[in-house]
Amino acid sequence: MKAVYPGSFDPVTAGHLDIIERAARIFDRLVVTVFPNPAKAPLFAVEERVAMLREVTRHLPNVEVDSSEGLLVPYVRRVGARVIVKGLRAMSDFDYEFRMALMNKKLDPEVETVFILTSSQYAYLSSSLIKEVASLGGCVTGLVPPVVERRLRELWPVQEPGPGS
Ligand code: PNS
Repeated sequence: MKAVYPGSFDPVTAGHLDIIERAARIFDRLVVTVFPNPAKAPLFAVEERVAMLREVTRHLPNVEVDSSEGLLVPYVRRVGARVIVKGLRAMSDFDYEFRMALMNKKLDPEVETVFILTSSQYAYLSSSLIKEVASLGGCVTGLVPPVVERRLRELWPVQEPGPGS
């Protein structure tokens, strides 16, 4: 069974990677797809987000990375999948994810959304928080894959190294 894990991934975090690795163990094939989110001004270009995702999923042979625009549900059909994977962190995600899942279901009743609960150590993580901390010179070691940390440090050098770094 093939599934699509969509998101803005701006940038991919350790929490996203945890969901990708776990979904890749459940589904035969997983397509991780970068979509623009009109509600958020992006930091990284789509091509760079795709490149970072490809690098961090290189060890997962059944995962491919793609990008798309427009509606998610027809894209899911185009790639031959019928399942959308989403990660759920706190209750605060639930309302937004619930509305999106129901709308996607309305658009195509045969496409199912499957939620995977975050691992507890990533429950507070978000790309927005990572960008805020990194932009203010904070240390995000362990919260994003090393390739992402390097890119963030190129943009904003760390001022306060974390414990052990
Ligand atoms: O990582 P994000 O920003 O929470 O991801 C949101 C995303 C990209 C999954 C969502 O905006 C989306 O599905 N975009 C595709 C356009 C679409 O189908 N919109 C209607 C959703 S009900």
